Amino acid sequence: MRLNKYMASCGVASRRACDEIILEGRVRVNAVVVKKLGAQVDENNDIVAVDGKAIRIKGPFKYFMLNKPKGYITTVSDPQGRKTVMELLPEMEARLFPIGRLDYNTSGLLLFSNDGDLAQKLTHPSFEFGKTYIAVVEGDVNEPELEKLRKGIDIGGFVTSNAQASVLKKFDGQSEVKLTIHEGKNRQVRRMFEALNMKVKSLKRIAIGKLSLGSLPESECRELTEEEVKYLKEM
Ligand code: URA
Repeated sequence: MRLNKYMASCGVASRRACDEIILEGRVRVNAVVVKKLGAQVDENNDIVAVDGKAIRIKGPFKYFMLNKPKGYITTVSDPQGRKTVMELLPEMEARLFPIGRLDYNTSGLLLFSNDGDLAQKLTHPSFEFGKTYIAVVEGDVNEPELEKLRKGIDIGGFVTSNAQASVLKKFDGQSEVKLTIHEGKNRQVRRMFEALNMKVKSLKRIAIGKLSLGSLPESECRELTEEEVKYLKEM
């Protein structure tokens, strides 16, 4: 089995994040540092350690959603000691990691699992499920701006693909926009509005595909239902 796949199966991180850990020289196979990305391991006989700690395949897999508040960084550990989303999860044996990322100042639906294969699938660029956000922006968003958001907009070296966009309400010189995008570029929604010269005041993700935050209170998390897990796996 490939080393990154094995690490993901052990709940270390998604396969791509595991590649970075390998390149950082943090992984030993039978006590020897391995920095080669395509390296293979024998999962029954080799001893793999990350940061000096032996890992092994875990199961059963767990799947959670969190309603992330603003002011938390999406990472498993932050060297600068900032608050991380991991602090909002229940104490449990399974080593969960976030699937995808929400910015420090973005709130809403964030998935967690120890299932590296599902994480790999959901974060892969070719995987085009819609992610729906509610953005409150300064200024008046009208049909011409919505059309630009829908048709695709240059956010600096990248043109976004088709999106769904509508104005939910306007208040105090601000517009509340519902936007469904199909990629996950860094700060994508904020950059889409920046391309329209509009500033995002607040941003919340309310859905990933058909999976929605519903009435889950802020800072709380819940386990996904069997149907939700099945949906994500089959999507
Ligand atoms: N788009 C953003 O700008 N930020 C996020 O956190 C997610 C999508």
